[in-house]
Amino acid sequence: PASTTRLPHGRLAVGGVPLTDIADRFDTPAYVLDEDEVRTRCRTYRAAFPDTDVLYAAKAFLSRAMVRWIEEEGLGLDVCSAGELELAHAAGFPPERMVLHGNAKSPRDLETALRLRVGRIVVDSPSEIARIAALVGPRGRQKVMVRVVPGVSAGGHEKIRTGTDNQKFGLSLTDGSAQHAVARVLGQSQLELTGLHCHIGSQISDVKPYLVAVRRMVGLMARIRNSHGTTFAELDMGGGHGIAYRPGDPALDLTSLARRLRAELTASCAAAGLPVPGLVIEPGRAIAGPAGVALYRVLAVKHTGETVFVAVDGGMSDNPRPALYGARYAPRLISARPAAEPVLATVVGRHCEAGDVLAADVPLPGDVRPGDLLAVPVAGAYQLSMASGYNLVGRPPIVAVREGTARLLVRRETLQDLRGRDVGA
Ligand code: LLP
Repeated sequence: PASTTRLPHGRLAVGGVPLTDIADRFDTPAYVLDEDEVRTRCRTYRAAFPDTDVLYAAKAFLSRAMVRWIEEEGLGLDVCSAGELELAHAAGFPPERMVLHGNAKSPRDLETALRLRVGRIVVDSPSEIARIAALVGPRGRQKVMVRVVPGVSAGGHEKIRTGTDNQKFGLSLTDGSAQHAVARVLGQSQLELTGLHCHIGSQISDVKPYLVAVRRMVGLMARIRNSHGTTFAELDMGGGHGIAYRPGDPALDLTSLARRLRAELTASCAAAGLPVPGLVIEPGRAIAGPAGVALYRVLAVKHTGETVFVAVDGGMSDNPRPALYGARYAPRLISARPAAEPVLATVVGRHCEAGDVLAADVPLPGDVRPGDLLAVPVAGAYQLSMASGYNLVGRPPIVAVREGTARLLVRRETLQDLRGRDVGA
């Protein structure tokens, strides 16, 4: 996780910057992103997955600086809206290294993708095929992949499992709709089918479901070869690589995933007599998550029955993950006081509902009091990117740290920002 160093008296530093300094300078709540940690994770992927096209899934966290880091580290980008596409483009990311996803792409998403010339568009429904072809026009040609649902159940929570047919993404391998879509794409001269895609879920800590998925995808490739004579240049196995949010949580072993995925792909293709396609992966969480720290100030401490409620100045508007997925975190007190006896505390946010709990039953020093700072590690993915405007508290800023220096990447959302959009009389 973000290179947190313990300073004297329990003060924590990230990227060489004490979190207390960040709170003083940028106020709270604030999100801190460790640039070196992001870059290290990109390099770990590139080293573990040689000969693999590694795309960072922008939905985990996106800002212009992040785009530049990803670009400089040689990764591609998975985007899923005109907004993500335009932001990445504005930050100088080459569109040919981007892949556009989405189960319901808007006219604007598709127009932007074609205007900026994205590398590939991942087809997610039959009706999309003719729409893309029509937008490409008679002389153009767009590379596409087809998103397949391989019938593999995996993922840290029901809401983030996408490998089986009871959810909205992709085209089923089991009922034949994937093969049908492939046939339709092959019938469109404006579309060049480079390969198949699947993303079976998120926060997966076991390698096995990926291996089963590879076998089924290769099986489908063999059927397509037999019926259409077509072989594919690439196979995109999506992202979903699980990380530890708390010490001791299970995490996916990337080296083992890389080795076994490659071995399975080679063996399955050999058995089917297929050329081995280029491998593509799309990690988001595993790159951004561990590089982020959320910083809050304690506003109130309340002893109710058995429970100590520690209320902070952020909550479900900057981190909806506990409320959505029952996600568990390990907040830490940043304090210069000698460590007091721990109590089991429930860290809650400032929003107007009882479900606004950031971390239930976590050990915190018993003398935790208003004014204290709390740090929540592993906060870099799917928190700010899913932040909401609930209760009009404004979204926190993002501060990048590196080699002892902090700089603002995205400023705090102000009341003026929020009021400015309300143009009603
Ligand atoms: N590729 C595709 C097509 C995806 O849909 C996703 C994530 C990824 C790659 C990256 O998955 P990752 O490596 O980050 O797990 N909001 C949820 C996670 C939703 C994931 C959506 N798709 C959470 O906070 O846990």
